[in-house]
Formats: sequence, C-alpha cells, structure tokens
Amino acid sequence: MGNINRIAVMTSGGDSPGMNAGIRAVVRTGIHYGLEVYGIRQAYLGLVNGDIERMDARDVGGIIQQGGTILQTARMPEFKEESVQRKGIRRLNEHGIDGLVVIGGDGSLTGALALHRRGVKVVGIPGSIDNDIWGTASSVGVDTALNTILESIDRLRDTASSHERVFLVEVMGRQCGYLAMNAGLITGAEVVLLPEEKTTMEELGEAVEEAYLKGKSHAMVIIAEGANLETIDIATYLEQHDIGFEVRATILGHVQRGGRPTAFDRLLATRFGVAAVEALLEGKSGVMTALEGRDIVLRELEEVIGKQRPLNPHLFELSEILTR
Ligand code: ADP
Ligand code: F6P
Repeated sequence: MGNINRIAVMTSGGDSPGMNAGIRAVVRTGIHYGLEVYGIRQAYLGLVNGDIERMDARDVGGIIQQGGTILQTARMPEFKEESVQRKGIRRLNEHGIDGLVVIGGDGSLTGALALHRRGVKVVGIPGSIDNDIWGTASSVGVDTALNTILESIDRLRDTASSHERVFLVEVMGRQCGYLAMNAGLITGAEVVLLPEEKTTMEELGEAVEEAYLKGKSHAMVIIAEGANLETIDIATYLEQHDIGFEVRATILGHVQRGGRPTAFDRLLATRFGVAAVEALLEGKSGVMTALEGRDIVLRELEEVIGKQRPLNPHLFELSEILTR
C-alpha cells in the first residue's frame, strides 16, 4: 500500500445519475481502508475556494438511489489556467489531502490530468450521460439517460400515432451520437441524425415521406443535439414541404440528466468508486476507471484525453436494416 492517509472526492461537469452512488462508494471504501475522506463541493470551483469538508459513512447514507450529486457540481473554465490549478493544489496541501477522486466527463478528466501532471495523486471516474469518454464501454449515467429517453419516446409515440404525426425528438450528447443512435435502435425510429454522419434536408424529407407513403401511422425522427441540422429548421422544412404527416417537435433537454439511477448505473458507479480508492492506495495516479467487457480496468488519462469515442459501426448497419 502507498502512503495515502487522506483522500478527497468531487463531482464535476454536467451531473449524471449514479454520481451519488460513486461518492458513497469512495467514502465508504476509503473509511474501510482506514483513510480520512473529504468531499469537495462544486468541483474545481470549490477546490480553489477551499470548500472542502470531512465526510463519514453516515453522510452518504440514503443517497444511492438519488439522481444529481450531493456534492453539487460546477463548470469553472478558469481551471484551465495554470495559476488557478496552482491555487487548487495549495488548498489540497492545506488540508493534507494526498489523493483525489474526480467523477466527471471529458473536461473534468482533462482537469484531473492537469493536476496529475503537477504531482497530485488523482484517479478519474467517467461520469457523463453523453458516453463520449474514450476507453470505457460506459460512463456513469448513460444507462439511466437512455432509459429516460426510451420512456419519453414511447409516450410520444402514443400521441404521434393517434394523430398521424411525425415527431422530431432532440436528445443530448454534445458532439457524440451514442444516445441518439441507441435511442433510435430501441424505439424503432424512422430516422436518426447523428453528429458523426451528415444528412441533407432532402434525404430527411424523403425518409419521412416514405414512411407516410408506406402507410405508417406516425414517424419518429431522433436528432442528436450535435447533428448538422437544427431541430427547428427541420420542423420548418417538413411543414413547408407537406410530407403527409403533421409535424411536432420535442426537445427532451435536462429531463435526460435527472432521475433515479438504474441498477446498471448504481452498480457501475459503485464498482468504479471502490476501484478508484484501491488504485490510489496502490500508488497509482493519472488513471481512470473503465468498463471493459464485464471487468473494471484502469486506463491512463494520457491515453484517454483528446480521443473521440467512436460509435460501434455494427450498430450503424443494424439501424439501416431495421428502419423499414
Ligand atoms: P464535462 O466534465 O462534463 O465534460 P466540461 O467540459 O464543462 O464538463 O468540464 C468541466 C470542468 O472541467 C470545466 O468547467 C473546468 O473546470 C474543467 N476543465 C475542462 N477542461 C479543462 C482543461 N483543459 N484543463 C483543466 N480543467 C479543465
Ligand atoms: O455533458 C452533459 C450534457 O448534458 C450534454 O449532453 C449537454 O450538451 C450539456 O451537458 C448541457 O449543459 P448545461 O447543463 O450546462 O446546459
């Protein structure tokens, strides 16, 4: 075991369901190994401001089923600056913290790597609904978000088919089409627009018209927020071209970020939390917990950061076969 006595945990970037399960696992695993555990409120902002408090096992009771994050989160663009990072390190030293766990997305893990390069012992846990982090099959929160999207689209389908309408449904994901592509597959959407694949307005119009001509009672178009066409422009185009169906648009928005984490996300966050603390105790730093098959592994942050997580090409093909 390395000479780690006091660790801290923070959640950073966009919150995601399961972050609380991750905090709980870090706190209780740390205590199990005889460490003092601290919580940093509001991510790098709280780190720089010294918003750091001791946590015990009772502080994380009753949170495993809650969405959001009890430590809160924040975005702090200034943390990219070396002088601000230095302030953060000074705060860690003031509190005698010798190991840090950062739960967050791509940006948050970039911050973690910056701290590692400056000598802080840090382990990352991928937490983001976007599933855009390279090197892990899933990040904490993705499964819950996908289930929320699934339920929402099932509901929209009921009303869409009752009125013979085409529904445009915009889902989150930044520049990654994971949520949109998988939502399309599991809801049987007619069209899916992804950031990874450009579509023209004409192609989209033809696909929706084809669904109408085939006698479908409705059509679903799923649009990733990072796709090349804007939802509002698609609605205008389809209305102007009278493709048969009436047109309605729904932007699912932040509904996708909240809610009780699924069994999958709770388990993933719990396993990641335990693995992160054990990695620190083994003297590791600059690594991220990752899911590979059924196993939890560690990846070097140097390897993870700056890479784009590709969509599974096989799923691309499946979606072509199944959208008939
Ligand atoms: P996410 O972690 O969900 O991808 P962001 O991209 O907004 O969310 O990043 C969250 C925070 O991580 C930022 O507000 C900033 O504090 C920190 N961060 C992002 N990029 C960097 C970077 N290049 N260097 C240091 N810190 C960064
Ligand atoms: O990264 C998670 C995410 O929900 C993205 O899908 C989305 O683009 C972004 O965060 C929204 O950020 P905000 O909560 O700042 O509006």
